[in-house]
Amino acid sequence: MTDDATLTKLVAVAQAARAKAYAPYSNFQVGAAVLDEHGRIHAGANVENASYPQGLCAEASAIAHMVLAGGRRIEAVAVAGVADAPVTPCGGCRQKLREFSADGTPVLVADATGLRARYTLGELLPASFGPHHLEKRT
Ligand code: THU
Repeated sequence: MTDDATLTKLVAVAQAARAKAYAPYSNFQVGAAVLDEHGRIHAGANVENASYPQGLCAEASAIAHMVLAGGRRIEAVAVAGVADAPVTPCGGCRQKLREFSADGTPVLVADATGLRARYTLGELLPASFGPHHLEKRT
């Protein structure tokens, strides 16, 4: 169970990362932060590309930073974006997060002012396909 102070920090890191997004095409900046099994926080932001499909989501960027730092488990996630509806992770990012998370992993969704919604990964991606499916192959 991750304490409230750490989750508050996670949201703040995602909000700060959002300010560093490279999103000249959509003008829709997203920040993300993941808490790893060592208690470290890794930030990410969306990185768009003139070849639009090559753009990278904020969550993918945060996951890459975590893996490069040696993290292999995600204990909590925060995403920061500004829209009328809470900016939840896209479908592809839900699957990317699933690789390192459990069904109960909290996913906090914030805007520039604070927390908007809270989910678990299992709520966002129920009955998910994951590494356990590959454990026993016939
Ligand atoms: N985006 C993210 O970074 N994460 C999400 O989960 C939703 C979408 C980015 C991708 C693109 O750069 C911009 O938001 C508009 O779709």
